[in-house]
Amino acid sequence: MIEFSLEAIGGLWARRLDKRRGGCEEIDWNAIAREATPELVTVARDVWTRSAFSEYASGAAFAEIASHLLAARAPIDLIAAAGDFVGDEMFHADLASRVAMALGGAVPLQVNYEKLVRPPEGDGALLRAAELIVRSCCVGETLTVPMLKQSRRTAGSRAIEVVISRILRDEAQHAELGWWFLDWADLSDADRAHLAVVAGSTIRSFGVLFGRECTATEGLGALPCERFEATFLDAVSNDVVAPLAERGIIVPREDVEGLSGG
Ligand SMILES: [Fe+2]
Ligand SMILES: [Fe+2]
Repeated sequence: MIEFSLEAIGGLWARRLDKRRGGCEEIDWNAIAREATPELVTVARDVWTRSAFSEYASGAAFAEIASHLLAARAPIDLIAAAGDFVGDEMFHADLASRVAMALGGAVPLQVNYEKLVRPPEGDGALLRAAELIVRSCCVGETLTVPMLKQSRRTAGSRAIEVVISRILRDEAQHAELGWWFLDWADLSDADRAHLAVVAGSTIRSFGVLFGRECTATEGLGALPCERFEATFLDAVSNDVVAPLAERGIIVPREDVEGLSGG
């Protein structure tokens, strides 16, 4: 485990990343900390440091997804999208780290860069790609969207609202890739049964993660625990379990029942 940090090299590479900056030019970074209490700033520094890391880890997930889609001979436009999403996630990591800097700097966070993505376990390239996609897109990205909207509603900072809106614009597509992939992939009943188990355990681990990372205070992009549970449970059943079931992937009931955000 080493301390999480980000580096950018600049030059033409920074200009490539800058192409994604549409909508963020007018953010007044200095305004973020100005009206907040010191307690809230401390909480938010932690929130945005973790968020920069989770964006970085999402980039790793899409890099894996892209290479597994290549091996599975997936449609080329889908592969290109997955590769492009790595760039989106690096841009989100950049935005989140700018928020952390505006709040006084990132907090120390120990991470393992060599274990960013758990390797898929299914047999064959298609099922392995499906496993990664169910975890990251159908569950992870899909559940992130309503949680980000909840954090935006209580942000109390115009700059943070803009940052979250910019991130949300991409995350909705990142989720969507999952459903398009499942509609394309020719999966067997056994594959779908395997994916149901994968989805169920991923939903449970997201419940634990969000439950651990929600905060007692609200504002500056923190996810208030008080508002998290109802949003989470609703998103699990309507946005994840139901569309998976439509595609023959029936999440085990025990993974959903008893979910109470932790
Ligand atoms: Fe992201
Ligand atoms: Fe994403």
